[in-house]
Amino acid sequence: MKRVAILISGGGSNMVALAASMKGDHPARVVLVASNDPGATGLERAHTLGLPTVAVDHRPYGQNRAAFEDALMAHLLMAKPDIICLAGFMRVLTPAFVEAFRGRMLNIHPSLLPKYPGLHTHERALAAGDTEAGCTVHEVTPVLDDGPILGQARVPVLPGDTAATLAARVLTREHQLYPAVLRRFAAGERGILML
Ligand code: GRF
Repeated sequence: MKRVAILISGGGSNMVALAASMKGDHPARVVLVASNDPGATGLERAHTLGLPTVAVDHRPYGQNRAAFEDALMAHLLMAKPDIICLAGFMRVLTPAFVEAFRGRMLNIHPSLLPKYPGLHTHERALAAGDTEAGCTVHEVTPVLDDGPILGQARVPVLPGDTAATLAARVLTREHQLYPAVLRRFAAGERGILML
């Protein structure tokens, strides 16, 4: 049984979808939900689901990313995850932290990578006049939003879409894509899942 730690920063809707999928004959289970924000509502949602949670507030560490990550790593080493899922996690991780989990840390990004790495993906898709958008699950490497793609899901961009309406349509697909990719990844299956 693969042990999965999920890192969040906010609402944790992807965490909820992932957690809900790990049951029955699924080859993985959640062992920890960790957030860099003690006020993340996703922590309450994880607690309600009976999942172990921890908050490591990044703010006391200021610009010392490595010190924050050392504190986070201490909790992860106790949980002994086989796989880490970044799910709405909004901190850039140092190469050292990424290397510690190379090949077993996943992230979901709300664009069809390699288009629009970074922030404000929906605004950028709309500004470009794209007719489709979507989300990507990829392995995390030291370069932001750049690792091997494990899965993608597409949505149409509709006339009159705003960043909010497009984000909501993409988020629904994230909740389908991430659990499906994690299940394959945990089972040792390879290849890109296109939903
Ligand atoms: C959403 O914008 C999602 O596209 C991205 O992170 C944000 C929050 O997701 N992955 P969640 O609800 O906290 O999972």
